[in-house]
Amino acid sequence: MVIKSAEYLISSPSWEKCPNPIWPEYAFIGRSNVGKSSLINILANNEKLAKTSGTPGKTQLINHFTINDSWYLVDLPGYGFAKRSLSQRKQWERMIEDYLRKRPNLMTVFVLIDSRHQPQKIDIDFINQLGEWNIPFSLVFTKADKSTQAEVSKNVKTFLNKMRETWQFLPPNFVTSTVKKTGRDAILGYIEELNMQFRAIA
Ligand code: GTP
Ligand code: MG
Repeated sequence: MVIKSAEYLISSPSWEKCPNPIWPEYAFIGRSNVGKSSLINILANNEKLAKTSGTPGKTQLINHFTINDSWYLVDLPGYGFAKRSLSQRKQWERMIEDYLRKRPNLMTVFVLIDSRHQPQKIDIDFINQLGEWNIPFSLVFTKADKSTQAEVSKNVKTFLNKMRETWQFLPPNFVTSTVKKTGRDAILGYIEELNMQFRAIA
């Protein structure tokens, strides 16, 4: 897919405030600092679109970006950010649960996993929660440039095997590096397919 335009639209504190759900939408979630905003910028071909930072907890609201005047990318605040208070964490949970369960045009959620690590409980728990809520998702293993290809493949395989313990079907998965721009075409191709499905049912 060719990206002709990518524009910041709005930041919302709750699903009710999100823009009209007239276009298909793709949200990016995962542990704080895993690379959600950076990946959005690579996909959109604009390094300054979503705010990125080496300090975890940069993204706080539900951020909508309009792509090609026909679909939305959504940058979400990450989970597992240690410096949040209990009440902030509860607020995050409410905002995210409502958004994920109530947004009618959400085609898939991309769950980002750091490819450098063994499966982490926090990611597995989040994924199982998505399953309970019946929300379609895909996996994106990020920061692939930070370890060897063999290490990345091993971690992906271990993660998928861990999922097989409880899941009958595995979701689509992608490996990305924003430094090397790996995975961009595969993710955009998948989004394009889902955009066509949205149009077929709309
Ligand atoms: P929060 O908004 O705080 O939840 O973080 P985030 O998931 O949006 O992460 P962000 O995109 O801000 O990236 C966090 C840090 O990781 C930044 O310093 C990025 O430059 C770096 N980073 C993200 N993706 C990659 C990657 O593929 N390779 C490398 N080497 N660094 C990356
Ligand atoms: Mg971010």
